[in-house]
Order: sequence, then C-alpha cells, then structure tokens
Amino acid sequence: MPRQLPVDELVSDPYPIYAALRAEGPAAAVEVRPGYQVWMVTRYVEARQALANPALGNDPGNGRWMADVVGDAVNAAMNKHLLRADPPDHTRLRRLVSKAFSGTRVAALAPWISKLADELLDRIEPGEKVDLLDSFALPLPLQVICELLGIPAGDRHLFRDWSDVIISGAHQRDRYKDMAEALVAYVQRLTAVKRADPQDDLLSDLISVRDDDDQLSDQELTAMVVLLLFAGHETTMNLLGTGLFLLLTHPEQWAALRADRSLVPAAVEEMLRYEAPLRTAFPRYAREGVQIGDVTIPVGAVVMIALQSANHDERRYVSNDDFDLARTSATHLAFGHGIHFCVGAPLARLEGRIAFNALLDRYESISLAVPPEDLRWRFSTLIRGLESLPVIGTEAV
Ligand code: HEM
Repeated sequence: MPRQLPVDELVSDPYPIYAALRAEGPAAAVEVRPGYQVWMVTRYVEARQALANPALGNDPGNGRWMADVVGDAVNAAMNKHLLRADPPDHTRLRRLVSKAFSGTRVAALAPWISKLADELLDRIEPGEKVDLLDSFALPLPLQVICELLGIPAGDRHLFRDWSDVIISGAHQRDRYKDMAEALVAYVQRLTAVKRADPQDDLLSDLISVRDDDDQLSDQELTAMVVLLLFAGHETTMNLLGTGLFLLLTHPEQWAALRADRSLVPAAVEEMLRYEAPLRTAFPRYAREGVQIGDVTIPVGAVVMIALQSANHDERRYVSNDDFDLARTSATHLAFGHGIHFCVGAPLARLEGRIAFNALLDRYESISLAVPPEDLRWRFSTLIRGLESLPVIGTEAV
C-alpha cells in the first residue's frame, strides 16, 4: 500500500515532506488523495529527465472525474488543450500560439504593462492597508492576458471565482460543474461575437485559423482560450504575490534590490525556484515501464513530477532551502522542461520584472499588515499561492 501524503501539510508547507521523499529515492509511490495512487518524482535530475521523456505522455485517465461531473462535451471544451495533448496534436496546437508569445512579440508589450502596473499602484492611497493580491498581483496578469485575448474589460472580474474553483479541482466537485459550464458557455458566446466582428486580438486570430484553415476543432479552440486564460494569470499572480511575500519576510533582500535594480531578473528567477507557482507538472502516464534511478515505474502508472521538490533538491542547489537572490543560474524547473515547457515564460518573466520594479520605485518599504504565520495558502495540490497579502507601504520620497 503506498503511503498517503498529508494534504493539509502538502498545501501549507510541502518542503519537509518532499525532503523526506527525496532522501528515500528519486521516485516514490504515494497517494495524493484517498484512492489516487501516483508515482512522484522528487529529485532534480530525474524530474528534468522525466519531463523530457516521450514514454511519459498525457494520462488518458487524468480528469476522468471531470468528465463524470460535467459530461463529455463540456469536459472536452475545458481540457482538449496542448497541456493534455501528445504529438502530433501537441505540435499542431503549440504552433498556433507560440508565435503570439515569442520573446520579441512579448518585449513589445513592456511599455504598456509598465503603465498598467503604475495605474494599479496609483489607486492605492499612501499608508493605506491593502490586499496586494487583490489590488495588484491578480489584476496585472489578468488584465494582460485578457487584453491579448480580447476579453472585454467589463467581464474580467468573472475569472477570479471561476479560477478558484477550477484550481481546487477534485476538492470542490459540486461547484466545479456550475463553474465549468458557465466558463465554457462564456467562451463560446464570446467566440460567436468575435466571429461576427473580428478584432485585432488573439481570440479573433484563433477563430480565423479555425474557420479558414481548419487547423483546430471547436472544442480545441475553446480549450485553448480556457488554458491561456488560466495559465496566463493564476501562475503569474502567485509569482508576484508569493515573490513579494518572500521579499517582505527577507527585508535585507528588499534593501539589496532597491540598491541595485540589475538584480531584479535574478530575483524573479529565485522566487520561481523557491516557490514554484505550479507545484507539480500535469500528471503523466507511463506508456511503457520507465526506469527512474533504481526505481522501475510500471506501465500504466500515473507519474507526478514534483517541480517544487526538484527546485529544492540539495543535490542540485547549495543551501537549497535558503531564499538567496545572489544565485545566478536560472536552471529551475518552475516553467517545466521538454515539449510542454511553458509557452508563456517570456511573458511571465517580463511581468515579474516590471511588477517588482514598479513596487521598488514606489515604496521605500512595504510591511505585512498581519504576522506572517496568519497568512493562509490556497487549498490546491496544483497551485502554490497565498489567499491574501495584506500590507502597508511607505511611499518613497
Ligand atoms: C505550460 C508554469 C505563466 C501558458 C506550463 C508548464 C509549467 C508552467 C510548469 C508545464 C506544465 C507541464 O509540463 O505539465 C508557469 C509559471 C508561470 C506561467 C510558473 C508564471 C510565473 C504562463 C503564462 C501563460 C502560460 C503567462 C500564457 C500566456 C502556458 C501554456 C502551457 C504552459 C499554454 C502549455 C504548453 C504546452 O503544453 O506545450 N507553464 N506558467 N503560462 N504555460 Fe505556463
């Protein structure tokens, strides 16, 4: 019987659990919720190899519970996306979006994203107590991805609730059904509107690819939009929120950044290493027996690659559990590796650099408005992020 991982501890402080698993070997059989057995890959070298191993593909059973809850049509419109596809479908779908998120395309957005960051901070009164997740870390990436896709400004508030339910997945099955149906219906309605009246945005571009070249199905189109919406803001919001929390609990590092802005890109990488917003990669499925270190994962097993654990592997990182901006190598696995390597990584990195520079420009110091131990982590085994981040900032003169 594989041992059951304590979900509450996995949510609040996963690192001791991962350290114990790493000490035993590169991969271990565990239950992540009652009855859901997986092989968890925890060491850096093996996790990186597993991410690039074609024998570990999309898990056909992954999300079976979702289809049972919402029915096949809604499930396909939510999930027939590139993260759940293998080549050649994956290659075809990825080609359709990779250009829109290339380094040069994304770099051109910098002035606009900087303006947005400043406008969000302008709305905060000096010395006011605010939840910086609500007023900054969430709206910045959400506005960016909505703007790129062409989601009308008045609809953007809908996504916070949808997102909360969707990332808690199997833990909130009842609400999942309502939210998934509402979300799919929303994207389909918006697709119809844009089809009739195309604009200069990514959704209109995808619709013309669908209609003119027949390169993707209706369900794939909806699933692509859903994936981009959530992948585009959930993870980046937590990079900003958790990253700021790390700086506030390491004031010497805040001071170092204020003194030398050239450290900001390295700081963003260290935040990603130290608190990977995606705890694990999407579940993989062993199409054949896979050797990981001295462990043989049997054919048909579900494999979870623990990105947070790999990023804290003592075999790869000196002082692995220290948050240290002076690390210079960006070899962490927070964006994954291999064919599913994050398409949005250049955008997320740009948003991170702009957001922290905007905060450092404006505030001499920022203090948590509650003791750090009062902050709560969101209940999700997929996403690592705080529920709220109440702070008080002292404006720089
Ligand atoms: C894939 C993390 C931001 C879109 C991934 C994967 C990771 C990841 C780990 C691979 C998962 C796996 O192999 O199972 C992150 C983090 C982000 C971030 C930590 C922010 C800090 C973004 C943004 C976008 C985005 C801003 C949208 C523009 C995607 C897409 C995929 C993906 C479309 C699927 C790629 C594929 O399957 O080929 N992301 N992501 N991500 N990400 Fe991100």
